[in-house]
Amino acid sequence: MKGVTKSFYLLLVFVMVLSLAACSTPAPAAAEEPAAPAAEEAAPAEKTYQDLVVGFAQIGAESGWRTAETDSIKAEAETLGVKLQFSDAQQKQENQIKAIRSFIAQQVDVIGVAPVVETGWETVFAEAKDAGIPIILVDRRADVSDDLFASFIGSDFVLEGENACMEMGELLGGAGNIVELEGTVGAGPAIDRKKGFDDCMAANYPDITILESQTGDFTRAKGKEVMEAFLKTYTGEINGVYAHNDDMALGAIQAIEEAGLKPAEDIIIVSIDGVKGIFEAMAAGKANVTVECNPLLGPQFYEAALTLANGGSVEKWIKSNEGIFRADTAAEDLPTRTY
Ligand code: AHR
Repeated sequence: MKGVTKSFYLLLVFVMVLSLAACSTPAPAAAEEPAAPAAEEAAPAEKTYQDLVVGFAQIGAESGWRTAETDSIKAEAETLGVKLQFSDAQQKQENQIKAIRSFIAQQVDVIGVAPVVETGWETVFAEAKDAGIPIILVDRRADVSDDLFASFIGSDFVLEGENACMEMGELLGGAGNIVELEGTVGAGPAIDRKKGFDDCMAANYPDITILESQTGDFTRAKGKEVMEAFLKTYTGEINGVYAHNDDMALGAIQAIEEAGLKPAEDIIIVSIDGVKGIFEAMAAGKANVTVECNPLLGPQFYEAALTLANGGSVEKWIKSNEGIFRADTAAEDLPTRTY
């Protein structure tokens, strides 16, 4: 009996081991890696700055400000490794349009343009849109519908004109006669700086008269020439000059000195841009105020260009931060100026 019991128990143990083995859940097979998507289905890799090809249609080199902007656009491309096609239109809209068409033909990723004047851009911007190439307006606006450009990077020119008006009004003690040197006819900053200044004068300083307003084309030479004519026409009557940019103000200062008068004392000088030359003039007591307009737009331009090239969206107006600088701090501000 003892032998039978032992065999019975052995059999029982064997059966239990077998059934346990049968019941135990097999270890789950290692989860299979999802199959890599076929090459043609893979999402396109994000572009980096080194992949970016950008065309830039510049106006020309009419002022120190413009040269500083060009330097910023070129230097930043170099720093980031962006491939830049740069074109200088020598102040001619037709040359800017030709450059944009050539950028479209080269299938660049993004086109930057500083429009010399506001009108006449619809056709060529529509061509860029049809080719799927975003347009970024740099520093100057174009009078086109919102769907024809991706972003405007630049200043509030109307506000610049208003700031210049308040400075002039204060310096003249609310009364006197001034002349105005306007920028290039039809250019955004010329239109807006005039509007901001003239409207603000009419609203705040009824005893200040704008004797005459004429274009000096944003250049020093033309600013001087127009100021010479103003000094002849209004001998002894001019108390202030408002120039839409510093270069024209610097030309006017020369004309005033050549006429035997003291700029900043006999005739108040208020202008816009903030180039080194006007800081030197202010430090030398020959100019009173400059309202800053920042030309160093390279970094913001390429950041927006890369976002657009990767299918992203950017602000419709990317504003620059700017200040107002006066003669009393010019000597200490001068070493900090980068353009
Ligand atoms: O568009 C900006 C203006 O153009 C600057 O004030 C002027 O100096 C430049 O030429």
